[in-house]
Amino acid sequence: MKKFFIPVVLGTARKGSQSTKVAKYVTSELKKDTQVQTKLLKVEKFLLGKTVPVWQDKKAAEPWLAEVRKADAFVFVVPEYNHGYPGELKMVLDQGVEDYYNKPCIVAGVSAGQFGGTRVIENLLPVLYELGMIMSGTLNFGNVEELFEKDGSIMDPKRWEKRVQRQMTTLKRLAEALGPLQGQE
Ligand SMILES: Cc1cc2nc3c(=O)[nH]c(=O)nc-3n(C[C@H](O)[C@H](O)[C@H](O)COP(=O)(O)O)c2cc1C
Repeated sequence: MKKFFIPVVLGTARKGSQSTKVAKYVTSELKKDTQVQTKLLKVEKFLLGKTVPVWQDKKAAEPWLAEVRKADAFVFVVPEYNHGYPGELKMVLDQGVEDYYNKPCIVAGVSAGQFGGTRVIENLLPVLYELGMIMSGTLNFGNVEELFEKDGSIMDPKRWEKRVQRQMTTLKRLAEALGPLQGQE
């Protein structure tokens, strides 16, 4: 059976971010899937303080790009900040070029408002396409402050499990189909 490495990327370094709960929840759901290996990657860990593309500093970009190369697909958990994506996510993504080619991804939008990060997803889409990634679907975690219990467990877990699984089925199919083309133009 093919095993897919699908990391969950937490796209903000904001202290006290609610998206951390979403990223941890999604990671725990992925861990239930016997076809999937996963881990939580916090952009915070790969931030270089400024934009440093790989052609300027191969060594600095390597920790992030090593994860990208291993990944068959990604789940990006991205909060909506003024209808856009956090700058730190963009700075980390901008470290790479061809290593992203033909890697599928899901974007999970997170917002305090009811739209569940719909606008951040729309704004991130052209960036992902420019990087050669293919967005296979979305998840929307709106009203995030009301979604989790105090212990971090999600409310209405059956409903969320169904949503995540549906997205994961498509993501894995796409990862399998695109596998031979990954990292190539
Ligand atoms: C700088 C900033 C801008 C924000 N802009 C929006 C917004 O445009 N729409 C929205 O629904 N929530 C907005 N929020 C609220 C976030 O969606 C909210 O904090 C949510 O919990 C996700 O972000 P977090 O992971 O940083 O907590 C903003 C929060 C910050 C810190």
